[in-house]
Amino acid sequence: MPKEQSFAQRLIAWQKTAGRHDLPWQQTRDPYRVWLSEIMLQQTQVATVIPYYQRFLASFPDVAALASAPIEQVIEHWAGLGYYARARNLHRCAQQIVAVHGGIFPKTAAELAELPGIGRSTAAAIAAFSFGQRAAILDGNVKRVLCRGFGIGGFPGSAPVDRKLWELAETLLPESAIEAYTQGLMDLGATLCTRGTPLCPACPFGEDCVARRDGRQKELPEARPRPKIPERTSTFVLITDGTHLLLERRPPSGLWGGLLVPPEGEVDQVLAARGLTVSERQNLPTLRHAFTHFRLTLQPVLCHLPSQPAMVGESGQVWIALDAAVNAGVPTPIRKLIQLLLRPGA
Ligand code: ADE
Repeated sequence: MPKEQSFAQRLIAWQKTAGRHDLPWQQTRDPYRVWLSEIMLQQTQVATVIPYYQRFLASFPDVAALASAPIEQVIEHWAGLGYYARARNLHRCAQQIVAVHGGIFPKTAAELAELPGIGRSTAAAIAAFSFGQRAAILDGNVKRVLCRGFGIGGFPGSAPVDRKLWELAETLLPESAIEAYTQGLMDLGATLCTRGTPLCPACPFGEDCVARRDGRQKELPEARPRPKIPERTSTFVLITDGTHLLLERRPPSGLWGGLLVPPEGEVDQVLAARGLTVSERQNLPTLRHAFTHFRLTLQPVLCHLPSQPAMVGESGQVWIALDAAVNAGVPTPIRKLIQLLLRPGA
């Protein structure tokens, strides 16, 4: 990236020639209008926001009008924008500005950030656009611009990366023209440095962008790390006389509830609990199966009996022909094990 001063200067110059200048909330320094637009734009695209913004202002022209309106009427004007907590906070915020601040918006980002629904970045945007205050914004779009431009790895939602990005955002601030700078960051993120395929050839930072220089636009910003899926291993005892297999019905709830499954557990315990003695046992190759919340390695052990065990029929046990077992109500990995047994030479 260019030297930090020149980052801001290049962005400001770009905003003046290539940025957006005709959005309805850019024609004013009225903090009420700026605030309303920033709240609406928090989770909603510009094109969707514009008609809502205009209807809202027609009905609630200033903060006092909004504060005294019934909440139901405010929600009605929000219907279709989504994230309705924003509308409730907006109403509460208006009432607080009237009750606590005499109907006048506070003029610093720090004070604005104390109000309902106004986070650190939104407070900075309102302070910059309404009062020309030098304050750093850092929303999702800006995070993407900074992660790419400066080659910042790690998940931007994590505390250490978030801290680093705020520090960088503060360092980059220009001494003047904070409005064009702030708008430039938003415009760059929304129009060029987009999530899918950024329009790098049109970018004012050219080859000074780390992601572009290294061809890492798709990798930055990094995605949320996938939670580690727990690994479990379990032994399944395949008790057979060569043509039949012992299966047991699982209890209705829990893993494989109600399905037929070979006895599960340590081989000696499984055999002892069922009063069985076997002459021969053989470990078969393991099989992996992915469940939603964990991965299971199945260790099959083949045990040969001379004939059908005595207790079959009790406690949900069935002695089933191997070729029929494939189509009995057995879970997928168990079916795979049985198919293995059926293969010639198994
Ligand atoms: N997104 C958030 N704030 C915005 C603004 N003032 N203009 C355009 N897009 C925005």
